[in-house]
Amino acid sequence: MKNIVILISGRGSNMQALVEANIPDARIAAVLSNNPQAAGLAWAAERGIATAALNHRDFPDRAAFDRAMADKIDAHAPDLVVLAGFMRILTPEFCRHYENRLINIHPSLLPAFTGLHTHQRALDEGCRIAGCTVHFATAELDNGPIIAQAAVPVLDGDDADTLAARVLAAEHQIFPQAVADFVSGSLKIVGKRVINARRRQAPPALH
Ligand code: GAR
Repeated sequence: MKNIVILISGRGSNMQALVEANIPDARIAAVLSNNPQAAGLAWAAERGIATAALNHRDFPDRAAFDRAMADKIDAHAPDLVVLAGFMRILTPEFCRHYENRLINIHPSLLPAFTGLHTHQRALDEGCRIAGCTVHFATAELDNGPIIAQAAVPVLDGDDADTLAARVLAAEHQIFPQAVADFVSGSLKIVGKRVINARRRQAPPALH
């Protein structure tokens, strides 16, 4: 059984998709947040999952917050830490501590559009395809080895909200699958690439 700790900052729909996927051999040990008001915390608590919030505003600096968050996480002996809409930049020390066991979901087709406002930026650039990426998180923002991506069309008439909704539906597909692949031991990091034993055996349908 692999222990998973999920970090959220808000709504938590990716966290919900992960919980509802009931991944074999995975246990959601805790859902933690930097935002005590995060709606996802209440959702998780209602389902009997351990929850806690550490308000980053209560800490003098980023490093102090990250150290306190790591202590909270490590109390749950995690095999995997998942960033599911966790909207804080993490220190290199934090990322190194969880090296190769820290996974992030990002709402763009990386390496395009790291950071914030990905959907508006994709629209502003005239992209005809947008999407999302699940990747191992490293000290370099939104730049770790890519586990999975899904593409969606950009439709004429889209605004950032309609595009975000289409991308989010794709996030809910690839995120639980990527975590399941980690838990089953299918993922191997080779340099910047992730080799996925499941995909080698039977190529899935295109997302
Ligand atoms: C998701 O779209 C996720 O990809 C994005 O925040 C949203 C959270 O939604 N994450 C980032 O932008 C990280 N840089 P959720 O709380 O409903 O899962």
